Amino acid sequence: MNTKIIKINPNKINFTKINKAAKAIRNGNLVAFPTETVYGLGADVFNEKAISKIFIAKKRPFNDPLIVHIADIKELELLSDQVSPVALKLAEAFWPGPLTLVIKKSPSVSSLVTSGLDTVAVRMPNNNIALSLIRKSNTPIAAPSANLFGRTSPTDAWHVIEDLEGNIEIIIDGGRTRVGVESTVVDTTTVPVQLLRAGGITVEELRTVIGEIKIGEKLQRSFRSPGMMDSHYSPNAKLILVDKKGEIQIKEVFRQAMLYRAKGFRVGIMAKEENKEKYEEFEVKVIGKGSELKKCAANLFSTLRDFDKEKFDVIIAESLEKYGLGLAIMERLKKASVPKSIK
Ligand code: TXA
Ligand code: MG
Repeated sequence: MNTKIIKINPNKINFTKINKAAKAIRNGNLVAFPTETVYGLGADVFNEKAISKIFIAKKRPFNDPLIVHIADIKELELLSDQVSPVALKLAEAFWPGPLTLVIKKSPSVSSLVTSGLDTVAVRMPNNNIALSLIRKSNTPIAAPSANLFGRTSPTDAWHVIEDLEGNIEIIIDGGRTRVGVESTVVDTTTVPVQLLRAGGITVEELRTVIGEIKIGEKLQRSFRSPGMMDSHYSPNAKLILVDKKGEIQIKEVFRQAMLYRAKGFRVGIMAKEENKEKYEEFEVKVIGKGSELKKCAANLFSTLRDFDKEKFDVIIAESLEKYGLGLAIMERLKKASVPKSIK
């Protein structure tokens, strides 16, 4: 398939181009598009054939449910007939934005989208290209991240091209995504509501709107959200996360780097700006200042992809603080560091 790459300026939407992409969605084809978090791989939520194309293009198992994207809160009615008051409250507070709400689904939503669950995950993205595409398509758009299954999410059109060119109809290039980590996923069907995935809206922000939110409980979580298996977000390189503080962290990063280098592997270090000089004799990529978690989140996936592009065997990654966006970053680094042997 000849993939069309359409460049659109998010600050000056070209509706002729949006209409072309919207037509592809209405015709049951796949369109990759930018959101504020990562790029999504979209299809008409009410077209089962189109939905199954998503799983095939991504090589994604069918037991990993999709997020449905809407452009207007009224579209919730198309997907659910029981949206709880707490879900509405969260939607009003954070939409459009990087928060996904798991709500009871109505029969109109195919079980292909929800992997057989009786709930559906919904969000309204905060990106003009995404919102215009949904409106012009005249249907909610189901879209997982536009990467091959198991790889890091795409934060730039180039990452999508790398993974999916030739297998989908259209890629909209809207530049780098702003947030850089995926949306926060919250199950609103339980009391209290439960955090299923840390992401672009922080737990601290959620707590300003709803008093109580349950976090953790891994086993229950993987049952409720079958897609959230452990090895995810993986670079090709083996990733070692050094979750320590201060001088002890620096020493341990150094020790691991020496160890793998002595074994003959090409070693890279993903460090905070303030520590980069400590590792002078190694190849270092900076994720950002430890105090600037927003910037670190925006850089995370592209930095990991850069290590892969340069064919590193091992990445030693420094940990970040586990609050605010640091929680989302650390969740992803932990999953990326699930042990694997080096090829
Ligand atoms: O920021 C994002 O959320 C991006 C952009 C494109 O919107 N999308 C994204 O989708 O990250 P994806 O497919 O990579 O991750 C969606 C995850 C699934 O792996 C699944 O665990 C969870 O959301 N999910 C989807 N439907 C669910 C449901 N009904 N119940 C629980 N979890 C669900
Ligand atoms: Mg994904």
